[in-house]
Amino acid sequence: MDSNVRPESMKRIVNLELANAFIEQEVNKVRAQVKDKKVLLALSGGVDSSVVAALLIKAIGKNLVCVHVNHGLMRKGESEQVIEVFGKELDANLIYVDATDRFLNLLAGVSAPEQKRKIIGGEFIKVFDEEAKKLTDIDFLAQGTIYPDILESKGVKAHHNVGGLPEDMKFELVEPIKLLYKDEVRIVGKALGLPDNMVFRQPFPGPGLGVRCLGAITRDRLHALREADAILREEFEICGLAEKVWQYFIAVPDMKSVGVRNDMRYEGWPAIIRAVNTVDAMTATIEEIPYEVLHKITARITNEVEGINRVLLDLTPKPIGTIEWE
Ligand code: XMP
Repeated sequence: MDSNVRPESMKRIVNLELANAFIEQEVNKVRAQVKDKKVLLALSGGVDSSVVAALLIKAIGKNLVCVHVNHGLMRKGESEQVIEVFGKELDANLIYVDATDRFLNLLAGVSAPEQKRKIIGGEFIKVFDEEAKKLTDIDFLAQGTIYPDILESKGVKAHHNVGGLPEDMKFELVEPIKLLYKDEVRIVGKALGLPDNMVFRQPFPGPGLGVRCLGAITRDRLHALREADAILREEFEICGLAEKVWQYFIAVPDMKSVGVRNDMRYEGWPAIIRAVNTVDAMTATIEEIPYEVLHKITARITNEVEGINRVLLDLTPKPIGTIEWE
């Protein structure tokens, strides 16, 4: 049987009881698989890797080594939060690696989306490999792969956490949630006792802001994107949309338009708002953001973010648009 295919008989996890049964089953499976060996986990701080971390901490405790790589493509404040929540509150075995320069140097001048993803995915593996070599007894690599990643990697995108592993990789994989849909992952996270603000956090792609800083990434445009995204998130929190909308973010294309600021010609990039609702990320609809909220976000972004001179709204459902722009 193909272990990457969800069996027809597998019940959809819709409540804590089913989640607990799933957890018990996976904890036993993980223990049987890894025994007293150590497992390395790429902890991005997103829902998927956080749930895998909690599950593995339950199964093998300190034999789970979490590595958080700051690839320089995180959202504002995100790496700091990973250190706070996992390093301090959950007392995990956590290693923090700031690899910003490595990633951004490799990505300089690269504009093709799939190539960017491959570079980011490949470099991730290298960084983990380096970390693993510094540690002893690491035999396993845990990943927060979920079912839509597997389904979509068959055709649409080379998601780094499914398609990007080198052939000669010496780790055996531990992927306890690879047959779950996103809504199921959240219920499992709740059952594991993770805080709500982590379990219900919107998903964030492995390549991070790299697939939202469209085309060839530059540090100044990436900085503008990060700041505009932080404003969008802040304003969605204030008006209550953060709880309601499944995924929302800014994308910044590699093009400039003419504008005026302080009576001077001001060329800048547009910030594109994308806010979508979905159950499983396979299809998505558009959130109807009230105009007053849009006006406020526009005013803040164009006034506060260096390099941005327009704000646009993406009205495209999936299909035909994917959720991300790249
Ligand atoms: P798309 O853009 O394919 O996105 O409609 C569906 C969901 O997957 C997320 N996504 C990714 N997640 N690595 C990830 O881990 C990726 O390369 C990647 N690309 C897209 C996206 O944010 C959305 O939630």
